[in-house]
Amino acid sequence: MQIFIDSADLAEIKEAVALGVVDGCTTNPSLLAKAGRKIETVIPEICEIVDGPVSAEVTATDYEGIVKEGRVLAKLHKNVVVKIPLIEAGIRAVKTFSQEGIKTNVTLCFSATQGLLAAKAGATYISPFIGRIDDVAGEGIQLIEQLVTIYANYGFKTNVLAASIRHPVHVVQCATVGSHCATLPLSVIRQLLKHPLTDIGLEKFLADNKKASEKAK
Ligand code: G3P
Repeated sequence: MQIFIDSADLAEIKEAVALGVVDGCTTNPSLLAKAGRKIETVIPEICEIVDGPVSAEVTATDYEGIVKEGRVLAKLHKNVVVKIPLIEAGIRAVKTFSQEGIKTNVTLCFSATQGLLAAKAGATYISPFIGRIDDVAGEGIQLIEQLVTIYANYGFKTNVLAASIRHPVHVVQCATVGSHCATLPLSVIRQLLKHPLTDIGLEKFLADNKKASEKAK
């Protein structure tokens, strides 16, 4: 499963990339606002740090506006993936971009029917928001499983990019059902690494090593 960092904060992105496990980056207007950055300046900077796809989201909601904005974003760097909301105008724009060879990430996906249409339009990635489905007492992981199955059934090339990931259990669930990618906040990437038994075990190894080298003196 590919791991993307879900952030527009350069320090966070650098920290995640330094671990050597990051395949790409996703941003959205909320993350840009949190980082206090403008899309046209931060995206090229992220592309210098991340060697992989970097999603940049349009804010237009009409077809002409999405296409115009997406073409500008796509020119920022060869690794830019244009992120488009899952609305009627968005699906039309995805089709246009797929004919132009511009990669797309269709965001705010909350149902398998939406995901099916995004794939038919030629989306490169689909972003189902599993945490937000869980927030309203749904089972976000079921949507990931459905999309993985539907895409495999018909040979769609669209990659499932699980988003709105809140904790390590989401990551394990996504990997278990075969999600192609998952985008994680840095806090969750850090959590994936942690295990108290690792810390306890390491402490004992180091203490024993110290004792042994003192004895050997
Ligand atoms: O990738 C989408 C993500 O940023 C949304 O996460 O936690 O706001 O639902 P959240």
